[in-house]
Amino acid sequence: MQHLSLKMSNITKKFPGVLALDNADFELAKGEVHALLGINGAGKSTLIKVLAGINSIDSGQIWVDGVETVIDGTRRSKELGIATVYQAPEMIPSFSGYENVFLGVESSKRGLFPFINRKALRKKANEVLEEFPIDIDLDKPISDLAPIEREGVAILRALVLENISILILDEPTSILSHREAETLFEMIAAMKGRGVSIIYITHNLEEVFIVSDRFTVFRNGRNVGTYESDRSNYSHNDVAELMLGDKMTSIYPDKSETIGDPLFSIRELSHGTDFQNVSIKFHEREIVGVFGLVGSGIDELCKTMFGDLRPDAGQITVKGKDVALKSCADAINEGIFLVPGDRHAEGYISDESVAFNVTLSKLPGISKFGFVNRKTEKNATLKLIDKLKIAPGDPYGNISKLSGGNQQKAVMAKGFYTESDIYIFQEPTVGVDVGAKALIYRAIRDLSETCATMVISSDCEEVYGIADRIVVIFEGKVVLNAKTSEVSLDDALVHGLAGGHDNV
Ligand SMILES: Nc1ncnc2c1ncn2[C@@H]1O[C@H](COP(=O)(O)OP(=O)(O)OP(=O)(O)O)[C@@H](O)[C@H]1O
Ligand SMILES: [Mg+2]
Repeated sequence: MQHLSLKMSNITKKFPGVLALDNADFELAKGEVHALLGINGAGKSTLIKVLAGINSIDSGQIWVDGVETVIDGTRRSKELGIATVYQAPEMIPSFSGYENVFLGVESSKRGLFPFINRKALRKKANEVLEEFPIDIDLDKPISDLAPIEREGVAILRALVLENISILILDEPTSILSHREAETLFEMIAAMKGRGVSIIYITHNLEEVFIVSDRFTVFRNGRNVGTYESDRSNYSHNDVAELMLGDKMTSIYPDKSETIGDPLFSIRELSHGTDFQNVSIKFHEREIVGVFGLVGSGIDELCKTMFGDLRPDAGQITVKGKDVALKSCADAINEGIFLVPGDRHAEGYISDESVAFNVTLSKLPGISKFGFVNRKTEKNATLKLIDKLKIAPGDPYGNISKLSGGNQQKAVMAKGFYTESDIYIFQEPTVGVDVGAKALIYRAIRDLSETCATMVISSDCEEVYGIADRIVVIFEGKVVLNAKTSEVSLDDALVHGLAGGHDNV
């Protein structure tokens, strides 16, 4: 067992009403990058929280470096050289990068060494940073850093621990753009070069083949197999079928054959240096996909269409009527709804139930008298729980107890519940598994029958797969607007990465 960095055997973990891990096994070889896959709720995050000392286990055995051990708390986990970057890393936005890097160390040493040698830690952080492909100004407050820089700080926080031997990354790319993800892959290669063994959780099947040496699939809290990450042996479809335990058909619904009435349009819309002269028309029965990299202006465009930013110039028209949106409330009154991409920042209220969150945006509409009708709320929520297969399906369960992907599904359900006329879906499938992606795309397609629907994403394949019309934005300008049947995926990608010039 000497070549194993980690061995977990017969691990069982129950939450009230849920068997999250059911006699699960897992092995990590020394110096490998091992992808951990499984549909939403399969038990991935639960497994890594066992290693991090956050979840206690009901039964099972764990060996680290060949020595049997009990991980009975986060301090023990750190002593064993296990470092974890969580699905949604907790950071203190007003603290500097350095202060956030040291947070983890301080909590691990509290009581043991009340005096912390900050100078030595600073030196260590800078040493590790030197191996990274990006330069991060660690004196800046976290709130001023880009997503990849924040991810870098979270990784640094893990790496400044002494004797780190196992690094766990839980969906690190879900908040990163395409280019930023490439930077992260370089960081992973650098860590692997230092002999660190890495567990990498992702829902992006392409990444499995880019970063990992082997992959393990979890289903219903059990390990159903470990495989070499070899493209010539496994297609994306094969991996998806292993995760689902079922045959996989195309995740995208059929394209629309006809388009209906125009419902919404933007003409020559501009906002400062973010985007200029953007014109797009949206019709019933036509899903418009807007693709652009993070920083291309798509985020600001979403905010402008939803009344959160005021355009400097241009016109927004709803069902033939020119409107001036002064706030999100104005947009909602005009029948426009934005389903946000970042569920943690703007998507949900974590101390409340699934039903509360789903029905939140339409509360006054639930009852004529202004109070919430629990029965209507429950029935509406149950319908959406069924449609998107949110699990566990208890409308009154606390949303923070759901797995990451199921939380995202609840955010989507909230959007579907509003019964708006115009829907803006921003990065709709971040963190959800392949099966759930198909359900979400289907639900968007159903909506498009009677509504104007747009999917705005930095994932070109997603936009191309779901949309009838694709609009590509590069550096704030529309560089492509065409029926998806008339352009190739590569063509769309090249436009988004380099504005259509071939110097990618
Ligand atoms: N604190 C908790 N209390 C109750 N149930 C929980 C808790 N944490 C997780 N669960 C349940 O345990 C199961 C496994 O969840 P886990 O978070 O491990 O899934 P996951 O594989 O990480 O999914 P995702 O891809 O959506 O992040 C789910 O059914 C989830 O609802
Ligand atoms: Mg998870």
